[in-house]
Amino acid sequence: MVVTVDDKTKAKKVKRHIPSSKKKKKFYITTPIYYINSTPTIGSSYTTILADAIARFWRLKGKDVFFLTGLDENSVKTIKAAEQAKKNTKQYADEMAEKWKATWSDLRISNSDFIRTTEARHRKNVEKFFSLVCKSGDIYKGKYSGLYCEGCEAFVLESELVNGCCAIHNKPPKKIEEENYFFRLSKYRKKLVEHIEKNPDFIQPEKRRHEILNFAKSGLNDISISRTGISWGIPLPTDKTQVIWVWFDALINYLIAGRYWPADLHIVGKDILRFHALIWPAMLLSAKHKLPKSILAHGFFTDEGRKISKSLGNSADPAHLAHKYSLNALRYYLLINLPYGEDGDFSERALATRFNNELVANIGNFIHRTLSFIHAQYGGVVPAPEKKLEKNSEKRSKELQEKTNNLAGDVGAELENNRVDRALKKILEFSGACNQYFQSERPWSNKRNGSCLYNCANAIKSLAIVLEPFIPDASEKIWEQLNLKGSVHAQAWDSPEKIKAGHKLNKPEIVFKKIEEEKVKESGNAINVMKLGELSIVDFEKLGLKIGKVVSCERIKDSSKLLKLMIDLGTEKRQCVAGIAQYYKPEELSGKNIVVVTGLKPVKLMGVESQCMLLATDSEIPVLLTVEKDVKPGTKVR
Ligand code: MSP
Repeated sequence: MVVTVDDKTKAKKVKRHIPSSKKKKKFYITTPIYYINSTPTIGSSYTTILADAIARFWRLKGKDVFFLTGLDENSVKTIKAAEQAKKNTKQYADEMAEKWKATWSDLRISNSDFIRTTEARHRKNVEKFFSLVCKSGDIYKGKYSGLYCEGCEAFVLESELVNGCCAIHNKPPKKIEEENYFFRLSKYRKKLVEHIEKNPDFIQPEKRRHEILNFAKSGLNDISISRTGISWGIPLPTDKTQVIWVWFDALINYLIAGRYWPADLHIVGKDILRFHALIWPAMLLSAKHKLPKSILAHGFFTDEGRKISKSLGNSADPAHLAHKYSLNALRYYLLINLPYGEDGDFSERALATRFNNELVANIGNFIHRTLSFIHAQYGGVVPAPEKKLEKNSEKRSKELQEKTNNLAGDVGAELENNRVDRALKKILEFSGACNQYFQSERPWSNKRNGSCLYNCANAIKSLAIVLEPFIPDASEKIWEQLNLKGSVHAQAWDSPEKIKAGHKLNKPEIVFKKIEEEKVKESGNAINVMKLGELSIVDFEKLGLKIGKVVSCERIKDSSKLLKLMIDLGTEKRQCVAGIAQYYKPEELSGKNIVVVTGLKPVKLMGVESQCMLLATDSEIPVLLTVEKDVKPGTKVR
């Protein structure tokens, strides 16, 4: 059997031959399949990176991992987004699929397959599945009258609305009255309750398991699983005037893994847990398939408490962030910042702070000081441990060796329970202990320091392996400096093998470079970093482009670049900080009518708040955008 392990470039693929006598146990992990009305967000990237970290971990543990992600294309949202982009729906879907794949490749997602629900192989599966559900007598025709939220692609109850709007999408749902086909969800209520009660790991975390259990206990109604009047999607095999409801169609994507089914782990956001923990298992029971082993619902990345999403206009482009701060920084921050199952705010500043304090100052510092020292003092050759050590040194040496030996087990125990943030914290603790050890041993002042450097070099080897699931780029770079055989992606998670004394290391290089404050300031708002061609007209409106009259303007103390302007916007005045001091004198600007962006979140530049942004050309010498005739301050620009 041939197993492909990782990675980024096809050329880098490492093939391992596993004798068939040592057949590996399978591990099948999935992400939700994402809608294609937008490109990846911080949210979808989080889910996918989380799944990637867990998939990578199980690969290193020696399992035969199948990791599936993909796209949910048969949604009304696709038709609308294509219309807005003035593209044919299929062409739009194909283009979006390329964009998603490119982002996952940029983020080094190691998926085994990429499913698109517009593919023939999926359609075939859906048709087969539908016929099995029909066979069980679980489909019937009925009248549906109710509310439908196109954002959720789901029917919603009046009681779930907030001020008449869907609580997630903040839009009023549509009233729908249709003859369509229903699935007997109610028939499986009892079985589902029993299954959830008997299998404590089926829904994680515990708090979500309780929610789902209570919901199921309170009763489950049959659900409509087809829609009329839509020309995009999979036609109902038994009535071609209807298409299969997009969720019924989408969930079946998971069966594309064939022999890997049942899934060991479905990773989803808490918003779509009910579909996965109730509807999907009921569908599987009806079609007489096995149930997934567990479903993990994580929380949301938020922006000041609001869910981050493209439709809310507050998401940055993850590939851009990876480019700006490094993929290590982005992956690390996303994985450590959301506590298990909980929500957490996303901010570029927090990303930079955590990266600087934890990866640069802790892990990076330990690795670099050790390797540089071996390089400077031992010509890059790992020294032999001392035969005899002073009592305290001996004790510390033993302790560090023990910690190193336990590292994979400790971190692995967290990962086996999907506690990714805690796993990373264990690594940080270990690296902290390594730094302390190095500090206490003071190898620079003691001639007999072979043991310290030998122990530290081996601690680095263990770090390289346990970091692989989280930050594969860094892990590769560390491995390269250690000059060890093979690919770090193909190592055994708890390999006991030690680097031997006499082993020659490669030249040390800094693995994590500090993120400077200036970089964080470069773009205060996520909207700045969205790619061209992706804004809907609603997004555009949110920019709040207006004409503003400059009432006053002055230089900002201690800054050669920044000017502070007071801008009249008709109904209000706003302060604006702009980096144009080298090109415009304050007195030149007073009285000018300029174009201003008012929809951005305020940011502080050199400690001064900027409540709007002026527009200027991105040329070598920036030129301000003005208007050719006099217009009233506050006039909208479209
Ligand atoms: N197409 C459905 C899923 C079908 S699965 C059979 C769907 N797609 S989605 O594009 O809306 O993706 C939703 C998922 O994206 C969430 O469940 C979550 O995994 C992820 N996230 C989107 N925004 C998020 C945050 N702000 N924070 C964390 N993850 C969130 O629903």
